[in-house]
Amino acid sequence: MKCWLLKNPTQNKKFWMLCLILVYYLGFEDAKVNFVSKKRGKFMLTLKNKIVFITGTTSGIGKSCAYAFAKEGANLIINARRIGLLNEIANDIRNKFNVKVFAYELDVRNKKAVLDSIDNLPEEWNSIDILINNAGLAKGLNKFYEDNPDDWNEMIDTNVKGLLYVTHAILPGMIRRNFGHIINIGSIAGHDAYPKGAVYCATKHAVDAITKSVRMDTIDKNILVSTIDPGLVETNFSNIRFYGDKEKAKNVYKGLTPLTGDDIADAVIYCATRPPHVNIAEITLLAARQASATVVHRE
Ligand SMILES: NC(=O)c1ccc[n+]([C@@H]2O[C@H](COP(=O)([O-])OP(=O)(O)OC[C@H]3O[C@@H](n4cnc5c(N)ncnc54)[C@H](OP(=O)(O)O)[C@@H]3O)[C@@H](O)[C@H]2O)c1
Repeated sequence: MKCWLLKNPTQNKKFWMLCLILVYYLGFEDAKVNFVSKKRGKFMLTLKNKIVFITGTTSGIGKSCAYAFAKEGANLIINARRIGLLNEIANDIRNKFNVKVFAYELDVRNKKAVLDSIDNLPEEWNSIDILINNAGLAKGLNKFYEDNPDDWNEMIDTNVKGLLYVTHAILPGMIRRNFGHIINIGSIAGHDAYPKGAVYCATKHAVDAITKSVRMDTIDKNILVSTIDPGLVETNFSNIRFYGDKEKAKNVYKGLTPLTGDDIADAVIYCATRPPHVNIAEITLLAARQASATVVHRE
């Protein structure tokens, strides 16, 4: 082999070119750096071994995101208030995907708990690459003057202040490491206001504004900021909105095929795997029979 290479300078060049091409296609997968993934196409960011922090992972979109990122080989920090359910999900993900999962109970409304838990993450977990701000809810669907102000507090404290606390705690580390991606789960309610949804719509308009401002504030820090804005997704969302009234919750999706948590997770994964020079500012996803927050065609 050695003699053949020395005797044939042209072949020699070809041999090294071939080696380079092989290294390019086979290599880099295990390094926790921003190299390309050969699985999804040669220019896309690999999620393998990335640390992804997802809020609100006990159901719906957050849970789907946890499974989708684990499937791509990412290690997860997941949290929510229902710790029993969260631990079950964490174990299932570990068993299915052989990734590391750090699960802990967190109410994103609790500023101190958010800051302390993120400040005190074990060293192997504190370099968060991707943050998915998903925890959120709607409470009630009433004319504004019939609303219960306690519901406003819950929505504002979770959807807006919770998102702010988590982002404010995680962003400085991303800035120090000069790498990070924040993906907020907004809503079509952040673009279109609809009747009986004054405060929920206001919180999602706030998420839209926060997304845009934070993107501007971090533009020189190699941080990407995106929002994924779904329309009708069938999750536990409507059960919570109607205080556990399952009949009312079911009617929201009657006569059409709604989106699923997995549809939204798919868009989140797309957003997180673009080449390094691309930022997806916003993706709006609607059910096929939904034209806006208020215009829906039901069979
Ligand atoms: N479903 C839709 O049609 C739709 C449309 C547009 C946008 N969205 C948005 O999508 C996000 C996820 O909603 P979803 O549809 O997946 O609803 P979901 O099935 O009810 O899930 C909500 C998740 O958020 C968690 N959560 C709620 N309050 C929390 C708090 N204070 N602290 C920590 N975690 C909390 C819940 O966990 P615990 O209860 O265990 O804490 C749960 O895991 C929300 O931001 C929602 O506004 C939903």
